[in-house]
Amino acid sequence: MNFNDERLKVVGIGGTMRQGSASLGALRRALEASAEAGADTELLDLRELNLPMYEPGRPLGEFGPKVERLVEAVRGADALLISTGAYHGTLAGVTKNALDFIQFLSKDERPYLDERVVGLISTAGGDQAATNANQAMVHAVHALRGIVAPLMVGIPKAWQRFENGDIADEGYAERLDMLGRLVVELAGKLGSGHSRYEATAGIAV
Ligand SMILES: Cc1cc2nc3c(=O)[nH]c(=O)nc-3n(C[C@H](O)[C@H](O)[C@H](O)COP(=O)(O)O)c2cc1C
Repeated sequence: MNFNDERLKVVGIGGTMRQGSASLGALRRALEASAEAGADTELLDLRELNLPMYEPGRPLGEFGPKVERLVEAVRGADALLISTGAYHGTLAGVTKNALDFIQFLSKDERPYLDERVVGLISTAGGDQAATNANQAMVHAVHALRGIVAPLMVGIPKAWQRFENGDIADEGYAERLDMLGRLVVELAGKLGSGHSRYEATAGIAV
């Protein structure tokens, strides 16, 4: 999908530090659907990025290229997909730490997640925690001024729904596809994001 002749950009952030992470597999699936819907996509695998802990007051340049990549990717995104494993009834620390770095966007023209649509995904071992983790992320995304997509995917009993890190449950795969398409559609309708600012030479419309 395009806005002002530019392809929309969807950035996926997620996965845990566990090899074969289910939340990473779920994110990959949704991001593929975004790409099929016409968006440019970028996957930020948190295990691969292996980010340092966020430290208030420390300049961005001191955190190194991986943090800079994260910050730049979020800055350029029209929409995001964020996928976490549910730890102790909420989002995993590795996910929250990644979100903490969005503080570096606080003084941007589009601060934090302003004008960006965010699709949320969680995987859990039991029945309840994926819903709770998604709800916890809703609070974080709202605090960051993002717009939560009105479909969230919480995958309970993830251990029986993934094979080799990929989603193997047709029903949840379809929901992930729907979410991937939805964030592209909503970002297109918002007509927001970097495209709008660039198209108007830096003047917010
Ligand atoms: C430290 C830790 C805490 C967890 N806490 C919960 C929990 O409270 N409820 C639950 O249903 N599953 C819990 N789980 C299981 C994970 O939610 C599940 O394995 C999920 O798929 C993890 O995501 P990942 O596969 O991307 O690593 C926990 C797993 C770990 C390692």
